[in-house]
Amino acid sequence: MQIVGTIKEVRELVKSWKKAGETVALVPTMGYLHEGHGSLIEKAKKENDKVVVSIFVNPMQFGPNEDLASYPRDLEKDSAYCQSLGADLIFHPEPEEMYHEGFSSYVDMSVLTEELCGLSRPVHFRGVCTVVSKLFHIVQPDRAYFGEKDAQQLAIIKHMVDDLNIDVEVIGCPIVREDDGLAKSSRNTYLSPEERKAALILSKTIELGKKLVADGETDAEKLVQKMKENIETEPMARIDYVKAVNGLTMQQQKEVKAPMLVAMAVYIGKTRLIDNFILS
Ligand code: PAF
Repeated sequence: MQIVGTIKEVRELVKSWKKAGETVALVPTMGYLHEGHGSLIEKAKKENDKVVVSIFVNPMQFGPNEDLASYPRDLEKDSAYCQSLGADLIFHPEPEEMYHEGFSSYVDMSVLTEELCGLSRPVHFRGVCTVVSKLFHIVQPDRAYFGEKDAQQLAIIKHMVDDLNIDVEVIGCPIVREDDGLAKSSRNTYLSPEERKAALILSKTIELGKKLVADGETDAEKLVQKMKENIETEPMARIDYVKAVNGLTMQQQKEVKAPMLVAMAVYIGKTRLIDNFILS
């Protein structure tokens, strides 16, 4: 496995693989990899000849008061993990390599970004769409793999690829959880032991939501209300949002009806965690 930092190096390697008739996968990440990322790399490896993992903490997708500076980083550990899973290349650029002086082109989406995380993180999806489209242009993968934990991000990227005719197959992979249910996230490392226990309210509420639907709840507003009440039983939790939206348009819906995404963002102390379930 190689680790490179320049766009030129990635292009040369990918070109040589494609010339040899090999298929190429991209797993875009911000590093501090966990088993959620691992599941994407494993699936990419099964379905393609070569796997590129990008590790780039993208400044453009962080708001002014967000955790860009403190976002966890450990390239050495990430490299060993990628190698153990059979990745072929890590692309780890410096911010200046991705955003040269005078950089002024952005990919901005007018739909899908207005709800859920887009409301509380207004610049976030413009940063995600811009960096992901740049990565698609740099690597030119046949397939790209994203986690369903960021369900809105996945829907937005699929929409962007369709709108801009980018020749890549976008593949979503299921949420990976800790043994006790907490969705794996690089941000879980911010939690104190007490907060880590409190954070279980997210996955417990997801389970409650699934059960309410299985038991026949048809009113999406009632479903959301009951889920919110459950989160409020945890004193350390502060709700950013809990919403039931159409899984394709991200618009709120009144009825429990597939395709539906029930998503939440909840602060545990200062850490903002997300979780969801999909009715497909
Ligand atoms: O999901 C992430 O880790 C990031 O948003 C992504 C897709 C790597 C873009 O920076």
